[in-house]
Amino acid sequence: MPKLVVVTREGEESVFEAEAGLSVMEVIRDNGVDELLALCGGCCSCATCHVFVDPAFTGVLPEMSDDENDLLDSSDHRDERSRLSCQLVMSDELDGLTVTIAPED
Ligand code: FES
Repeated sequence: MPKLVVVTREGEESVFEAEAGLSVMEVIRDNGVDELLALCGGCCSCATCHVFVDPAFTGVLPEMSDDENDLLDSSDHRDERSRLSCQLVMSDELDGLTVTIAPED
């Protein structure tokens, strides 16, 4: 099973087993990390699942949709590592993916 490395806003790092097919947001939520609000439940309409992805994985991530891009624009903390974690689906290619939870807007 691929692993997902999650760094909280406080810098605490955890490694979770991430079932392929689940979104990064679902893996984070299901492991009890409650600072990722994910208010819309993964419908790509809230941007409260914002994470910073380790640049080493940029090339293997799915392309960003226009909706995701627009939502990320609403964040004051957006940078080139920004993604919405509900739009990233875990797979074997993403084994070891490292994400840091973005500051709350
Ligand atoms: S959970 Fe709302 S946009 Fe990702």
